[in-house]
Amino acid sequence: MRIGILTGGGDAPGLNGILEASARVLLQNGCEVIGICDGFEGVFEHRTVPLTLGLVQNAHARAGTLLGSSNRSKIDGREAEFKAKLESLRLDGLIACGGDGTFAGLYRVCGELNLIGVPKTIDNDLSGTEVTFGYDTACAAVAESVDALRFTAESHKRLFVIETMGRTAGWIALGGGIASYADIILIPERPFERTKLLKFVRAKQTSGRRELMIVIAEGASAKNEAPQIAFEVPDSPQRERYGGAALSLARWLESETGWEARHVVLGHLQRARHPTTTDRFLTLFMGVEAARMALDKKWGQAVVFREGRVSRAPLADLMKPARLVDADHRWIQCAKGLGIFI
Ligand code: F6P
Repeated sequence: MRIGILTGGGDAPGLNGILEASARVLLQNGCEVIGICDGFEGVFEHRTVPLTLGLVQNAHARAGTLLGSSNRSKIDGREAEFKAKLESLRLDGLIACGGDGTFAGLYRVCGELNLIGVPKTIDNDLSGTEVTFGYDTACAAVAESVDALRFTAESHKRLFVIETMGRTAGWIALGGGIASYADIILIPERPFERTKLLKFVRAKQTSGRRELMIVIAEGASAKNEAPQIAFEVPDSPQRERYGGAALSLARWLESETGWEARHVVLGHLQRARHPTTTDRFLTLFMGVEAARMALDKKWGQAVVFREGRVSRAPLADLMKPARLVDADHRWIQCAKGLGIFI
């Protein structure tokens, strides 16, 4: 069989693990493995690379994707061209690592395509799977940054506001925030009340605390206020890029309390790290399973993580609305139990 592999959307630590694991299994079973460069761009521009053992070996330890990716090349308006170009690659099947945008685009244009989906996003908000690879690495970046910043915060008697990625989902802020025992965690799913937040900060201030660590998701906002959009990427399936939440919160808290404040935007450092061991395990098992599904010709399915193990599910499960943090999620209860403002 001739199997294509594509990585679409924003990169996530672990993508290379999927490429290495699935290519190794497919090659061992006599398949030809064709890597499509730069996501949908590679289809439009007919740019591919044979995934040989030499190319994929040891890729698992590296961040990014050796195939390149793009979250700007939409199929909209070029459907017929995309379909013809994809057909000309003469693939027996395609393994696509992406988010709902990647799968929805492929499904809409090439309904009959022999497709296997691998869910991917550091935001951890894809439906149909309980966790996505890259998420653990992003949480590690947040937790280690909060722990490191605490030292300078203590030295200078400052409060720090640390902004995480995640778009409309608070998973990264919540996971990274509780792992580093942040004092305050603000997520989009739980708009905060300014008066209550201020009361909490003032209480810490009067108790003599030298430092205060606040983790805020880029999409979080106060009650009845809109999240802050920094700019838009017109040809991206999700146009808005969030940003500015930490800066404005730090300025506001400093002016209200007199406690010197600084802000840090972690940005793409959350995506740029080598995958953690947890993410390596996840991509190793997911990559092997995706290849097995291709060998079994189980098209229209996705490899997912449910109830503690990698399994198979209908690809349509990944295209349901984003999986956000439940208002009463057990991690939120846990944070409250620790005395964290959330
Ligand atoms: O969806 C993943 C993500 O990293 C978001 O958390 C973030 O808002 C966005 O992508 C950033 O996109 P870009 O790489 O286009 O700046």
